[in-house]
Amino acid sequence: MSGVKERIEELRRILNEANYNYYVLDNPTISDAEYDRLLRELQELEEKYPEYITLDSPTQRIGAKPLEEFKTVTHRIPMLSLDNAMDENEIREFIERIKRNLSGEDVSFVCEPKIDGVAVELVYENGIFVAGSTRGDGITGEDITQNLKTIKSVPLSLRSDELPIPTLLEVRGEVYIEKENFNKLNKEREQSGEPLFANPRNAAAGSLRQLDPSITASRPLKIYCYSLGVCEGYSFQSQYEFLKIIPKWGFRVNPNITLAKNEDEVIAYYQKMEQLRDTLPYEIDGIVIKVNSFSHQEKLGIKTRSPRWAIAGKFKPRYEVTQIIDIESSVGRTGIITPVAILKPVNIGGVIVSRATLHNQDEIDRKDVRIGDWVFVKRAGDVIPEVVKVIKERRTGNEKTYNIPGRCPVCGGIVRRIEGEAAHKCQNINCPAKIKGGIEHFASKRAMNIEGLGTKIIEQLVDKGLVKDIADLYFLNKEDILKLDRMADKSAQNIIDAIKSSKETTLARFIYALGIPNVGEHTANLLANHFGSLEKLKNATLEELEKIEGIGPLVASSIYNFFKEKSNLETTEKLIKGGVKIKEPEKEETAKPLAGETFVFTGALSSMTREEAQELVRKLGGNPSNSVSKKTDYVVVGENPGSKYTKALQLGVKIISEQEFLSLIDKLKSK
Ligand code: IVH
Repeated sequence: MSGVKERIEELRRILNEANYNYYVLDNPTISDAEYDRLLRELQELEEKYPEYITLDSPTQRIGAKPLEEFKTVTHRIPMLSLDNAMDENEIREFIERIKRNLSGEDVSFVCEPKIDGVAVELVYENGIFVAGSTRGDGITGEDITQNLKTIKSVPLSLRSDELPIPTLLEVRGEVYIEKENFNKLNKEREQSGEPLFANPRNAAAGSLRQLDPSITASRPLKIYCYSLGVCEGYSFQSQYEFLKIIPKWGFRVNPNITLAKNEDEVIAYYQKMEQLRDTLPYEIDGIVIKVNSFSHQEKLGIKTRSPRWAIAGKFKPRYEVTQIIDIESSVGRTGIITPVAILKPVNIGGVIVSRATLHNQDEIDRKDVRIGDWVFVKRAGDVIPEVVKVIKERRTGNEKTYNIPGRCPVCGGIVRRIEGEAAHKCQNINCPAKIKGGIEHFASKRAMNIEGLGTKIIEQLVDKGLVKDIADLYFLNKEDILKLDRMADKSAQNIIDAIKSSKETTLARFIYALGIPNVGEHTANLLANHFGSLEKLKNATLEELEKIEGIGPLVASSIYNFFKEKSNLETTEKLIKGGVKIKEPEKEETAKPLAGETFVFTGALSSMTREEAQELVRKLGGNPSNSVSKKTDYVVVGENPGSKYTKALQLGVKIISEQEFLSLIDKLKSK
């Protein structure tokens, strides 16, 4: 066992350092493969020696059990919100007011981008991340510690190479999703038939409010830290100093912050950020201007819900007015019909917009949108433009109402509304729109990963009748591909090669690739691990599916119905005949972290009965025993221990307190 502890510590240090370089400094120092290898080594060692697991181990980011509900926490200092300044004039008024209130003292301002995400609080005790919460109503929020731990740019422990560590530190910041990742996430959701997020903020909020941390872990969340709560054991004089110091502890701070010495510099920053807005990888809806000096902040004080020393400088919302020329319906991979407004092209914040989504029939009815209407259209960053509101005053009486057609615009198949949902769907399983979408999903990177098989090629393959379902891909030859427009010999060969090398795949990828409605990557993984083989999944009963942790009744029936459908079973068979080889997951050991360990309890326990404690040990694979021998691994000592305690001392058996036992179990359970 000698050296194990040292190796564990070394691995933890290397991994935390790599993590910091990658996620906070944006400067990777080791390859992903190397990182994974070291992480696996650490996981294996910690599995064998759970007593060496620490709260800040990189293995602790993942694997916490789903919660029943979130606990409520009270913020030690309320998390305030901000008043808004709607334009330059209002920003100038704010600054004048500050100057008056500080009776001419020299005052400077910190200017920061206002990211449109979710405000959270991170609490560190002696440098260890112990709790995290949402802002909630500002007074109380929800305890989302386990979810925040999954975010790689949230430090699990503070770096201590340059500065002393505060005994207590609360740092607040914004959790967000970058625009590109948001679009990717929505694309994946569209492909797996899950409802789309309206904007990156909703996506971040939805991801943080998951009771199952493994879902949060699968979302590309990031954090920028920007304000201080309680701090004991270190002191800051100003906001700017705070923002310059905390990266040394490992916190991520937005590089686009500025210290402005006067009103003109603040306005210059406001203008610059409004210009930069579209080039930033994340959504901002304005800037935040804060009085720099903490003693000035104190003098200015707060109102009920917002400070007098800070304000949000909002950007002009990017709405434009235009006319709806027509409404069309487009068909997605799962057959869902989305109505789209065709607009008289209009420039919104530098981008020409000519289409905007109307989401579904309910939205059309609720907003009473008609063809010919003049409407407000909103564009938020890279997000799909949206019709916000009809200007009814401009109606002439010639506007026409719109209903999603009863026949599919692509194949003429019957369209029906799904019960209990807002979506209309084409019912024809052979609808080319569905086939094309289904193939695109099947070939996509995270599914079968057929490189080079893009939308254009798929369209042609389907239109020319070369491919009628996903399985046909595996029966294509080079001559078929060469029939496509402007297809060179080399490219055709590349596609054939890519199709061939996609044949070797994992069960999880295969399940995901099938495109079962409501089954995203996460569910596909759950299914693969639970059933271990395609055969077992195909034969699963509805009850069996519903019993799987993390799978709700809707998803369960979606899976069940998929494998009831003859054509789906045929396609699956055909894929295998076409040469697809599915690697089944290695049998996951059921969690038996205490396997082989013998526990003896003596004395009265305070948190549970002895029977309960023994049951707990049994559940985790350990061996509860009533007598101490040399073979005993741990003797857990409660109040007024008896002779077993003396015996343990004599034999030199490891003795731990109830508290130590509980934290050992806690660590194991949260794995
Ligand atoms: S400071 C009193 N700084 O804006 C301090 N907030 O309307 C209040 N936000 O709930 C927060 N970027 O979600 C601050 N650089 C930044 C911010 C920021 C975004 C959000 C945050 C807050 C809301 C206030």
